[in-house]
Amino acid sequence: MLIDRAIRVVEDAPVPTWFHAGGRADALARPADEPELEACMGFGGPVRVLGEGANLLVDDAGVDGLVVRLEAPAWRSIEIDPRTGLVRAGAGADLRRLINETTRAGLAGLEGLGGIPASVGGAVRMNAGGRWGEIAEVVSRVRVMSPGRGLRTLERDEIGFGYRTSELAGAIVTSVELELEPGADSRELRARYRDVLRGKSGSQPMREKSAGCCFKNPALPHGLPGVGMRGQRVSAGLLIDRAGCKGLAVGGARVSEVHANFMTTRPGARARDALELMAMVGERVLDRFGVALEREIVVWSRSA
Ligand code: EPU
Repeated sequence: MLIDRAIRVVEDAPVPTWFHAGGRADALARPADEPELEACMGFGGPVRVLGEGANLLVDDAGVDGLVVRLEAPAWRSIEIDPRTGLVRAGAGADLRRLINETTRAGLAGLEGLGGIPASVGGAVRMNAGGRWGEIAEVVSRVRVMSPGRGLRTLERDEIGFGYRTSELAGAIVTSVELELEPGADSRELRARYRDVLRGKSGSQPMREKSAGCCFKNPALPHGLPGVGMRGQRVSAGLLIDRAGCKGLAVGGARVSEVHANFMTTRPGARARDALELMAMVGERVLDRFGVALEREIVVWSRSA
């Protein structure tokens, strides 16, 4: 099948995700540039972007509409001005490569995001981050494409960044502009980057198959002795751990013994295993602490 006589669509395509489980896409395209992406918007049905698949679970029954991969060279470009600290990156650029290149150029601001597997577009859309900072702190504007509205540039305060979220849902990020701090010592930045990675490899199951944290850290609806005060954002992993969920398993999915907010999968795991396990964990935390967890993992399923 072709869109616009030029863009080839692969039918019944695999959707690689870090869970190594889940269904396929009815249709997948790899637009070469913005005009081709615009043509993809007319495919009919939802258009979803597959980034690194690092925070994604696809339902076993697969996903409808069109899935696009922004992996052509135009989407992966990274332009750095070491003098001013201004950086422009395509949405398909790899976040880890961006961190490597900017820290080497002596630009500060991204080194705290070490160990987060993501495309730049995905990282911005979800406001990726953790204890050492979040990407929203350095984003100055984004270029997005949305159905019916074409391409637009949004300034930082129009992006609607929040904790692990933005108001970009429904739009496709095509490129991002960042304002980093120039003139930093690249050796110090690299050392800090390595410290962040080391910290994570000690407390997270980095070598197993997982999609990072499953749940957002909740703001407590009431005070919990020994955990936090009302309104305080606390570790979902800590609550899941204290609710006794480590090691809990459904089929091929299991709550990690290393960090309870990570779910690891073994070969043969189904998306349903992971979904059931997340539901079970959510119920246990609600029963035990009266705290409703919200999923951080994005789940794709058929629209109707
Ligand atoms: N803890 C436990 N048991 C566990 C996990 C954690 O008791 O199973 C305790 C730890 O001992 C620590 C506290 O909870 O005292 C906080 O743990 P951690 O430092 O691992 O931070 P987190 O709040 O659980 C957040 C992000 C992670 C990010 C880390 C480090 C969210 C949902 N999680 O985890 O992000 O890597 O900080 O920056 O925001 C992700 O988003 O995919 C992710 C993994």
